Amino acid sequence: MNEFRRLLGYARPFRGRLALAVLAMLVYAAGALGIVTLVQPIFDGVLTPTPTGVGWVAMLLLGAFALKGLGAYASSYLMTDVGQRVVMDLRNRLYRHILNQSAAFFSSRTSGQLVSRITNDVSQVQRAASETLADLIRESVTVVGFAAYLFVLDADLAIICVATVPLVVYPLVRLGQRVRSTTRRGQEEQEHITHVASEGLTGHRIVKAFGAESREADRFAAAGLSLFRTNMRITAAMSALPPLMEFIGGVAAASALWYASIKIGRGELTAGEFGAFLFAAFSLYAPIKKLSRVNAGIQQAIAAAQRIFEMLDTHSEVKERPGAQPLAPLQSTVEFRDVGFAYDDTPDRHILRHVSFTVRAGQIVALVGLSGAGKTTLVNLIPRFYDVTEGALLIDGVDVRETTLASLRGQIALVTQENVLFDDTIGSNIAYGAPGASRTLIEDAARAAHAHDFIMGIDGGYDARIGERGQRLSGGQRQRLAIARAILTNAPILVLDEATSALDSESEQAVQAALVNLMRDRTTFVIAHRLSTVRHADLIVALEDGQVAELGTHDSLIDRPGGVYARLHALQMLDERERQYEDTL
Ligand SMILES: Nc1ncnc2c1ncn2[C@@H]1O[C@H](COP(=O)(O)OP(=O)(O)OP(=O)(O)O)[C@@H](O)[C@H]1O
Ligand SMILES: [Mg+2]
Repeated sequence: MNEFRRLLGYARPFRGRLALAVLAMLVYAAGALGIVTLVQPIFDGVLTPTPTGVGWVAMLLLGAFALKGLGAYASSYLMTDVGQRVVMDLRNRLYRHILNQSAAFFSSRTSGQLVSRITNDVSQVQRAASETLADLIRESVTVVGFAAYLFVLDADLAIICVATVPLVVYPLVRLGQRVRSTTRRGQEEQEHITHVASEGLTGHRIVKAFGAESREADRFAAAGLSLFRTNMRITAAMSALPPLMEFIGGVAAASALWYASIKIGRGELTAGEFGAFLFAAFSLYAPIKKLSRVNAGIQQAIAAAQRIFEMLDTHSEVKERPGAQPLAPLQSTVEFRDVGFAYDDTPDRHILRHVSFTVRAGQIVALVGLSGAGKTTLVNLIPRFYDVTEGALLIDGVDVRETTLASLRGQIALVTQENVLFDDTIGSNIAYGAPGASRTLIEDAARAAHAHDFIMGIDGGYDARIGERGQRLSGGQRQRLAIARAILTNAPILVLDEATSALDSESEQAVQAALVNLMRDRTTFVIAHRLSTVRHADLIVALEDGQVAELGTHDSLIDRPGGVYARLHALQMLDERERQYEDTL
């Protein structure tokens, strides 16, 4: 029940509305009760050979119906309003929380799974909670009112009816437990199905290329089938409740009828009184039927809420230390001091070991090494996507863990191996790091990245939308937009991870020229398989298996016999010749 209380806590800001809703429920119950209490005067006064008070009774009846209707409308409107607000709040918090998690968090979960938490679990809570809560309060009030009236009419008869109540408690509780565990499974399966679909859809090209459409469709269908089974199990439990209640109600009605016939025979009860009693008893049916589902509904809400709270209680954020200071703009050095690093999931496997080197502001550092050597891992430490596990990374002598994240990341512009573009206009994508930049600045950045010409060639130019992840652009065009974005960000530290790998030689040369402009007056970490940029670097760090194998400039490293850089360079030259040959074809 802890989760339920926590969930209710989210409704606290809206307690004014909740109070109004409860008031409306009381009005509803008063109306409902009013209708029932009019039954006796109808039987004993109006429906007699000498009718009396017809007008009054009719007026009161209308009034009672109007009260009941108004109460029903206002209470369900207000409760839904509160429910939707709570859910909106919960969803926003969840999304913000997830966005703030570390890179490690995202690498251990799929986006489909996360999307499912944000959408399906939250709407499950909403469905279950807002209706259930409204029913719980409204129908309980009604039931208590009716039951009290039954006792007023005839205590003996009422006791006979109430005696059947304990019979229903056990099945209600058992079925509630079943509903909770099955709902949890259902949500997990929902998550799986979202994951399968999003993987298949985002990877549609590969799916088609490998002719795997029907395999993927089968995977989806299998996930759908098990979701169907689980949902039917929930339905079986939920649908069993009303008939069960109805049957027990039948038992109560039959016993009451039998007892009433005796009492009427003895002249202790009028037909009008018994009519009113029966009417009140039958009016109890609808509210009790709703109440019988309340527990199951609460269990459903709890199951989904548990999954949301688990996520909200996961804290893998790269944390800002209390008292972290903003980092001043880079003045003198960036230093890796004996840095070691292992990913969380493989703490014994050290991806980086004893990495030490110092870069002066304005220099270009090139990181070279074979695939898997740890180059990307190394540069990911600079914006603190991950924290070092040993040693320290210092900017102007300050450990980056002592600085605020915003000030640190504000100094870094990034062009990564996979260029992330958003389904937005070209202009907004370039201005992502500098929202509100003027069109002139955006165009200047695009010109510097040699992107302006191709942008002008696209229908709509800077206002053209580029599709999810920039699908409507070529790889090289995407890279140039990412470079333009980095240029516009105008940060003192620049990280280029394979920023030119998707370009042909010609545009690469053009972009290289742009990069040379970009790197001027900035401290740049560049990872490039092609070594033309590397040649001009002030410092080359050759990584081998996570360790610094060589440190120096092109001229100092190129002639070292058996050196890592010399070897890479030789391979590169071969490659380059092949490319030149291809380009001439
Ligand atoms: N999120 C992760 N979790 C666990 N291990 C990882 C993760 N990312 C990378 N690795 C491992 O770290 C090692 C170094 O990877 P990294 O991406 O830094 O290499 P790289 O030098 O950039 O290679 P490439 O030139 O191919 O881009 C690899 O062996 C890889 O398996
Ligand atoms: Mg890499």
